[in-house]
Amino acid sequence: MKIQQEVDLKPFNSFAVSAIAAEFAEVSDPAQLPELFAYAEQQHLPTFVLGGGSNLLWVNDYPGLVIHLATRGLKFDRENMRVQAAAGENWHDLVINCLNNKFYGIENLALIPGSVGAAPVQNIGAYGVELEQVVHRVSVFDRQAGTFRSLDREACEFAYRDSLFKQSTGSQLVITGLELQLSAQWEPQLQYQALRDALADSLPSAEQVVQTVCQIRQSKLPDPGQLGNAGSFFKNPVVSTDKYKKLKEEFPELPSYPTGDTDLVKLPAAWLLDHLGWKGRSRGAAAVHDLHALVLVNTGDATGEDIYLLAQEMSTSVLSRFGVALQPEVTIL
Ligand code: EPU
Repeated sequence: MKIQQEVDLKPFNSFAVSAIAAEFAEVSDPAQLPELFAYAEQQHLPTFVLGGGSNLLWVNDYPGLVIHLATRGLKFDRENMRVQAAAGENWHDLVINCLNNKFYGIENLALIPGSVGAAPVQNIGAYGVELEQVVHRVSVFDRQAGTFRSLDREACEFAYRDSLFKQSTGSQLVITGLELQLSAQWEPQLQYQALRDALADSLPSAEQVVQTVCQIRQSKLPDPGQLGNAGSFFKNPVVSTDKYKKLKEEFPELPSYPTGDTDLVKLPAAWLLDHLGWKGRSRGAAAVHDLHALVLVNTGDATGEDIYLLAQEMSTSVLSRFGVALQPEVTIL
């Protein structure tokens, strides 16, 4: 298999920042993985598996082997309404393929950038739907055991923008594919207010929901193909209900979301940042998007460090004004 040296990762990350990988290999068949990991071990090289590169920020060059998963394949099992997708498939293309095949359930997740293999890592979610609701199994290569296996949904330990694959206990697992349990029955998920407002129709079609989700996203989130970004940079913070009540006294407009636990409340990080005037501010070529305070963008030739330092200033200001710690959603390397 071809291993390249000194490869610039700029085309492989949606922030479009430069970072040099000491070695780089593109994988078109998961069967190549054991050989690659054996090679890295032999050479004492750290490894990093890259999917669509839409949820990470390279701050430094990478001194090891970057493995780019470019595997392809979609299989529709109509009898069980399950779809299997290879990790290297594009997430949005999968959403559209499912829609065209009348496999329903992931319409609200349209236009989320990134690959299928990255979707379970942070348990992608948008407009009232989280990936975990439709995961049947996740196929992995276990680097430690040197074997291929699959995990059921329970084993993936999904939580808000989190999963086993983000934990140290899951770090030896490379996601090679995803199997979703979808439905032949169309049932719109309209919990998200802006989606309901846009779809005044009482029973919109699946196509209409996809179209509306795309419109909402395009109206406030920049297209990474045109303006480098990685979607929400921070997770929405979860605070105690007591803390929330105190904040609400001082900031009556502060929105909040239930968490399923009456002692905890989720706050929109975007609101906190917006309230502090972050929208549109910049540091060199790194900037906060004009239309959404949670989205950092590369306006030209920003380095990973510019973006990282801007993000740090943002989280520091939220901590000192609101006493709330923001955690990055994006993986920082
Ligand atoms: N808001 C502001 N200022 C802004 C932007 C938003 O005050 O500049 C307020 C909004 O008015 C709203 C609240 O903040 O009350 C939340 O904003 P929004 O509905 O845009 O959602 P979000 O919480 O910022 C989350 C996800 C997004 C997902 C949307 C829609 C996280 C970290 N982000 O964003 O996911 O698309 O909900 O469901 O959970 C991503 O993860 O990369 C991502 C884009």
